[in-house]
Amino acid sequence: MTVEIQTSRNEEVLLADITVAAEDQIIHQRDTDSRWWRSSVIYQIYPKSFRDSSGDGIGDLPGITAGLDSLKELGVDAVWLSPFYKSPQKDGGYDVTDYCDVDPLFGTLNDFDTMIARAQELGIKTIIDLVPNHCSSENVHFKAALAAAPGSPERDMFIFRDGKGETGELPPNNWKSHFEGSAWTRVVEQDGTLGQWYLHLFDSSQPDFNWDNPTVHAEFERILRFWLDKGVTGFRVDVAHALVKKAGLPDWDGKPNGKSSPGFPGSEAPMFGQPEVHDIYRSWRRILDSYEGDRVLCAEANVDPAPRIADWVRKDEMHQAFNFSYLYCNWDAEALRTVITDSFAAFDAVGAPTTWVLSNHDKVRHASRFGTDKRADGIGPDDVQPDAALGLSRARAATLCMLALPGGAYLYQGEELGLPDNTMIAPEFRQDPSFFRSGGKRIGRDGCRVPLPWVRSGNSYGFSESGASWLPQQESWSELSREAQRENQNSTLSMYRRALALRKEFELGRGSFAFSSEFADESGVIAFVNGSTQVVMNMGTEPVEVFGNVLLASDPASIIDGYLLPNRAVWLTA
Ligand code: NOJ
Repeated sequence: MTVEIQTSRNEEVLLADITVAAEDQIIHQRDTDSRWWRSSVIYQIYPKSFRDSSGDGIGDLPGITAGLDSLKELGVDAVWLSPFYKSPQKDGGYDVTDYCDVDPLFGTLNDFDTMIARAQELGIKTIIDLVPNHCSSENVHFKAALAAAPGSPERDMFIFRDGKGETGELPPNNWKSHFEGSAWTRVVEQDGTLGQWYLHLFDSSQPDFNWDNPTVHAEFERILRFWLDKGVTGFRVDVAHALVKKAGLPDWDGKPNGKSSPGFPGSEAPMFGQPEVHDIYRSWRRILDSYEGDRVLCAEANVDPAPRIADWVRKDEMHQAFNFSYLYCNWDAEALRTVITDSFAAFDAVGAPTTWVLSNHDKVRHASRFGTDKRADGIGPDDVQPDAALGLSRARAATLCMLALPGGAYLYQGEELGLPDNTMIAPEFRQDPSFFRSGGKRIGRDGCRVPLPWVRSGNSYGFSESGASWLPQQESWSELSREAQRENQNSTLSMYRRALALRKEFELGRGSFAFSSEFADESGVIAFVNGSTQVVMNMGTEPVEVFGNVLLASDPASIIDGYLLPNRAVWLTA
């Protein structure tokens, strides 16, 4: 069959049918399981930066409640909230003092109830962050451990060890913190002498729990039930690969984050991916399954090699796991093709849905990342600045590609506005512990955590009525505001809304996947078919000819004379 379409320039083009051709190989079959989380779009809220209702310049739970309508309008299935628990905020709330209470910065437990009730009214599920690897050094259990003697049950909730060397002056092993420096801190005992050391894979204010201790298990089961009883749909589990450490805590000369390096395969890192960690999730899964509704666990298990992630989503464990290899993939069609192929292979092998993600609160936003070569450890004022137009064009294309992939998708607040990082944050505003622990060598993650612009004008673009904002926004953000973009058919926000609506209508999240063989010779192109929708993303430098009715384009001038321009993507149908 051939059809005629109007392109953006109104040329008439003869088009071929869009279906999976005989030579296209389906590498992922349509999902016959309709449980919501297998194909959902989950929107990450970073509470500090979503919306502020109190005027202190820090986002809060009533602010989230007020913003839920806009997420309904966007078309997401669920929200995932980064931590809002009581915390001294040494690591953006991933340092928890009280797991069952809301930090006054964010409101109260009543505010949480109001928020979740409103979300339920709107048909939006609520997932919250669980931080089981470590707590805050202000946590009551850690304070008790410090006050107790070496060898006591209180100390056994954490990983305390005597130091090496004649007087115990050296750390128990050579592990490094993710945020630079040693992963051990020595304590001053009650009698004023220097004493034992405790392990912290992150900041010294984040002591690691000892998951060999059943009391720790019981404590987290209590926490799970507390929030499940409140009606949360599930948990995103922080560093879900780190809880159990290898017996004897052997030295590790590989990378602190467990990524493979020559001679040090990530699979051998003694602090990650130990077999016993999976028993924890099996027991949590049983708890979730004992509740009504389809409750879920999602693993942040950034293991190497990447396909190991699938071990976290075996039938009796978690439901989803973040796909870090997709998040880390550069603007490179060949690499992306490999990641997509490997992801389907790994997740399909255990019957779990693949997830896809382009941005989160730990990573330079994709609108900035795709406009520069510097991607790791944040972008600061002294770095070469990203090409904003290029970054946005690629980010929109990448989003269209992602939202047509079968499986679950994660969005990070602000990406629907095409928000870039604030790459000009001055040192005095910095908050990320990695900036401080590295003596400023690592810029850190503040740039992607800046408060959202809601309206065109005002000191914080409507983030806070007082105009305050805990991290500085940028002047150019007025036209990126939600208000400005809602009125514009061609805005990034309008593209996201349309993509999410079409994704739902065509059930793309449950669809099948085949790379389109007709583009096999175009090395810079990602082209695939999901059901009756074909997606073509041009990651190369030359326009490529495309055929089909344009359902959605990453920008209005994506196709000229039947050719898809570089850094653009389209959804096509017959
Ligand atoms: C992963 C979280 O995403 C990150 O923000 C945090 O710093 C570390 N885990 C430690 O909790």
